[in-house]
Amino acid sequence: MRIRFLGHAALSIEVAGKHIVVDPFISPNELAKDIDIASLEADYILITHAHQDHIVDVDAIAKRTGATIVSNYEIVTHYGKLGFEGHPMNHGGSWQFDFGRLTFTNAVHTSSFPDGTYGGQPGGFIMETDEGNLYIAGDTALTMDMKLVPMQCKIDLAVLPIGDNFTMGIESAVIAADFVECKRILGYHYDTFGYIEIDHKKAKETFKNAGKELSLLPVGDIIEV
Ligand code: NI
Ligand code: MN
Repeated sequence: MRIRFLGHAALSIEVAGKHIVVDPFISPNELAKDIDIASLEADYILITHAHQDHIVDVDAIAKRTGATIVSNYEIVTHYGKLGFEGHPMNHGGSWQFDFGRLTFTNAVHTSSFPDGTYGGQPGGFIMETDEGNLYIAGDTALTMDMKLVPMQCKIDLAVLPIGDNFTMGIESAVIAADFVECKRILGYHYDTFGYIEIDHKKAKETFKNAGKELSLLPVGDIIEV
């Protein structure tokens, strides 16, 4: 499994011969200006919640690729009305896709669309595949529900928000990594805006001191599971 960091909370995952884009927010992100959206492959687009910084490029990517949008019921319904293919889920539910099994997990956050309309409740994803298991937390606070994740499967890589202010910060993310019982963490949702700028060195040291490894990828770089 190859996970490419596209900046902010956007990922491109290659697993089982499929391409899965997560929370695409690329075109307005100055830090992601080297990412060519027009060449991104997508069989699926996973959306954790309806905030602008997670959906802004969904329309363009879905229109070009015909990707299936996977998210909560409200978000998939919203895109369904625009003519896009979708697979609706809700919290605690799992579905076997052709690349692996997804579970829509709880997240403590909000989820309105940019125009203020209801975007359902926010979530994250557990992705179980033959090439390894991933936990993508989405925008969330540290929550006791994360303790449920390792009861379902062993997580090989946890993707956690670490930017603070709108989500968990570093200290909480270290505890989240404990809760999901994973020592390998990919940080996301940091540095994009002034509110969420972090000290990279300090962040890595904090995880290291807790016996964990935090990866902070340059935009466009790949981590393998
Ligand atoms: Ni958000
Ligand atoms: Mn966000």
